[in-house]
Amino acid sequence: MRVTLCFGGSILAPEELDMDCIRAVAQMLRALKSQKHEVLVVTGGGRPSRKYIEAARKLKASNTYCDIMGIDVTRLNARLMIAALGDLAEREPLATFEAAIRVTLKGKVPVMGGVTPGQTTDAVAAMLASSSKSELLVFFTDVGGVYTADPKLNPRAKKLEVITVRELMRLVTVKKMKPGISMVIDPVGAKLIQRTGIRTLVLGRRDIKRLPEILRGAKHSGTTIVPG
Ligand code: UTP
Repeated sequence: MRVTLCFGGSILAPEELDMDCIRAVAQMLRALKSQKHEVLVVTGGGRPSRKYIEAARKLKASNTYCDIMGIDVTRLNARLMIAALGDLAEREPLATFEAAIRVTLKGKVPVMGGVTPGQTTDAVAAMLASSSKSELLVFFTDVGGVYTADPKLNPRAKKLEVITVRELMRLVTVKKMKPGISMVIDPVGAKLIQRTGIRTLVLGRRDIKRLPEILRGAKHSGTTIVPG
């Protein structure tokens, strides 16, 4: 199966870099490759990208400049993932979807960070999944699913097993997009998921190791986004 996987910065670098998580991701990607899956990877920026964005904002940098700093950090995390994957991965983070697809067709794993100001790596992952005609798109986040409200702010928020993409759009368009903003899937990404109708999962840390069996149909503990 061809799958696009997005590892949010919230799990790769919630505060400092989470080396155990990075190693667990690399091990799981090796398992997927040995089972002949085609895998395309996107990495988020996490807390380090927010630190740079906050600092640049204090220096009165424009939103676009802040976004570019965020993109730089997502690419740095992509480099780290490439280091963890060794020969399995293309040596440089890819900057275009076409280049990422070429790498996939060569049998290697392309790793991408951000590409364009005004969005997050969620949108990059949705675009990569769409342009590579992936069968499945999976987001790994620290909260491990889509909730009725932001679980970090609202203790009564409930994780949803299934959500339609239309409901997801309603949940994510209430916040205004600005550099460093935190939301489960950004509106640009959600819109693309709606347009392509791609099967999408939002999973957490403990499903990283289980992804090979989840691809074979095992149950997961996150949220399935369905068309409609
Ligand atoms: P992230 O994708 O890490 O955003 O990009 P995030 O919402 O913090 O996601 P998690 O926490 O990793 O899951 C960090 C910042 O980089 C800029 C944005 O400012 C974003 O908030 N960025 C990233 C872009 O402008 N364009 C991109 O394509 C990617």
